[in-house]
Amino acid sequence: MSSFIEMIKNRRSVYALNKDLPVFPEKVIELIKDCVRYVPDAFDMKSQRALVIMGDKNTEFWNAVYDTLVAVSGGRFSRERTDSFAAGAGTILYFYDGAAVEETRRQYSLYAENFHDWVMQSNGMLQFAVWTGLRTLGVGASLQHYNPAIDAMVKKMFDLPESWTLVAQMPFGGIANAPEPKVVEDIDLRVKIEK
Ligand SMILES: Cc1cc2nc3c(=O)[nH]c(=O)nc-3n(C[C@H](O)[C@H](O)[C@H](O)COP(=O)(O)O)c2cc1C
Repeated sequence: MSSFIEMIKNRRSVYALNKDLPVFPEKVIELIKDCVRYVPDAFDMKSQRALVIMGDKNTEFWNAVYDTLVAVSGGRFSRERTDSFAAGAGTILYFYDGAAVEETRRQYSLYAENFHDWVMQSNGMLQFAVWTGLRTLGVGASLQHYNPAIDAMVKKMFDLPESWTLVAQMPFGGIANAPEPKVVEDIDLRVKIEK
């Protein structure tokens, strides 16, 4: 088991994916469930949602993303990107559930304006936990944002509640090609220490 910081360092955007997961798909699903269960949320609202798409559904999904983007861009969208995501083993769609947030927002009306930020922060924590956790399983992933253009299509395709808002898409799979090493800069320009 590598150290916490090693796990963080190893997480990268992996775009060259294949369908050969180095673990059983159940392991990936278990990781996602654990992350949704244990990642923090403001007032413990349990506002975060995930949809895991695998197998033929993944290809169907990325074909539909392509069709949607071609339609909204007037034909100026290339197949290459969506095909590369369809080549992976699956995709995790991240949402928050507005219905789960509203009751807590009413209860804590003094902070009403903060709730949107908090929900997005918790969603980001969830994405990071899953992304990093996948890499510890040897699974590569990247983070994509075709929302809001694809929102209506996604809701219809997977028959999702009206109150779910799509935040991000994370294609994952076996690592066909590792990314180039990361360029690191002088960290003291970004982190200040006062004693
Ligand atoms: C909030 C957020 C949004 C991002 N959106 C996208 C995206 O839409 N498409 C994409 O290919 N990468 C996206 N990325 C990935 C970043 O470009 C990537 O993490 C960054 O370049 C550093 O590379 P690394 O992930 O390999 O460390 C996003 C990352 C974050 C944190």
